[in-house]
Amino acid sequence: MILANYFYINQAIIKPQYVDHIPKAVQGNVGQVLDQKDEREMKAELCADLELNQVIDRNVGDLSGGELQRFAIAVVAIQNAEIYMFDEPSSYLDVKQRLKAAQVIRSLLRPNSYVIVVEHDLSVLDYLSDFICCLYGKPGAYGVVTLPFSVREGINIFLAGFVPTENLRFRDESLTFKVAETPQESAEEIETYARYKYPTMTKTQGNFKLKVMEGEFTDSQIIVMLGENGTGKTTFIRMLAGLLKPDNVEGSDVEIPEFNVSYKPQKISPKFQSTVRHLLHQKIRDSYMHPQFVSDVMKPLLIEQLMDQEVVNLSGGELQRVALCLCLGKPADIYLIDEPSAYLDSEQRIVASKVIKRFILHAKKTAFVVEHDFIMATYLADRVIVYEGKPSVDCIANSPQSLLTGMNLFLSVSFAAVAPSHLDITFRRDPTNYRPRINKLDSTKDREQKSAGSYYYLDD
Ligand SMILES: Nc1ncnc2c1ncn2[C@@H]1O[C@H](COP(=O)(O)OP(=O)(O)O)[C@@H](O)[C@H]1O
Ligand SMILES: [Mg+2]
Repeated sequence: MILANYFYINQAIIKPQYVDHIPKAVQGNVGQVLDQKDEREMKAELCADLELNQVIDRNVGDLSGGELQRFAIAVVAIQNAEIYMFDEPSSYLDVKQRLKAAQVIRSLLRPNSYVIVVEHDLSVLDYLSDFICCLYGKPGAYGVVTLPFSVREGINIFLAGFVPTENLRFRDESLTFKVAETPQESAEEIETYARYKYPTMTKTQGNFKLKVMEGEFTDSQIIVMLGENGTGKTTFIRMLAGLLKPDNVEGSDVEIPEFNVSYKPQKISPKFQSTVRHLLHQKIRDSYMHPQFVSDVMKPLLIEQLMDQEVVNLSGGELQRVALCLCLGKPADIYLIDEPSAYLDSEQRIVASKVIKRFILHAKKTAFVVEHDFIMATYLADRVIVYEGKPSVDCIANSPQSLLTGMNLFLSVSFAAVAPSHLDITFRRDPTNYRPRINKLDSTKDREQKSAGSYYYLDD
């Protein structure tokens, strides 16, 4: 959205959308830049909150995407201004970092200041905002901004694709969330499912060690992987894909069964030197002309508009949509989809979630999905795999478990262990569409649920 003039516009300060461009405009290491800008004498506190201490001496040009995002937020928050603007602060961050960033952003609210945020993760938006404006229209042609709504109303309007005050529908798809667990394992049904198993195994990569607890899954099931950055989600996905072998354990031969998989990697860097049409023709010839695939996958992902574009010229979001289409178009039993919502806006995330869900159910396949967007993750998940441990060092991938118990575990391990008094969050359900909503800290519900150990609340 706003690229030039990185951090100063009179009394307004802006965190730009594309943090990847920051190294071109900023010289020096993280600590030096923050020292220069530290008008509010907040450096120590912000570095602790945004996990910047471990990269404080690192050159800005050497930061990873997530580190760069947290640095950019710190640079804005450390200065004095009347208006703070954050364009997509949650990109590249995991759930915990997103909520921490949201708290830092809210801490900027003072009697003479206000904050404007553009954000695609609706849970973060929910947690962060006092008012919400929805934008709709035709990309590249026109956009309409609604009047401000209350947070709850604004997000529900967005999910429904319908503005009641204008009696206007701006999207055909809507999202509602399951009320309760679907018990997939009732006795009669078992016969109709294909069952797959994998054994307990370990994988060492450099200084990082991952232990995967044994698990099983069936068809028509989506398993969502939940874990902080660096806990080994991609590592496990690549093991399932047959791209990484588990460590050899003395005395026992650990083998992953050979699954017939289709894999969408987290990092998409295309080298294909031709158009999207040629790419689809080469990779998924049978699917991309099949009427069902066209109507269930290609149309909703708006692939037809991209057909004649060169693959190397696609934007991040366009590339993501093409990659998802390629992944689902390849015949397989198991679909491995690593971070499908990256670079997508909330509109496209809703569509992508629907496409994945519909495809997996109709085709009676299994999907493993890595996803940090809480709304997408809960919408997709039939079961979840929760990662625990010390990120980048030593982690465990638990066996697949139900959404309710898994979310409870995820929320308690991700937050309670690190900063119990700061980031201990609980969820309730919205009565209209059952979407998960983060309880306000120390509200009655928040305190009740914590004392009962119900971080993620499903009953109404
Ligand atoms: N080829 C490799 N060599 C050394 N370390 C690696 C390699 N691949 C991944 N790692 C490390 O393993 C850890 C887990 O990585 P990854 O599976 O990508 O995590 P996640 O997807 O959960 O963010 C990270 O600390 C990463 O730096
Ligand atoms: Mg990953």
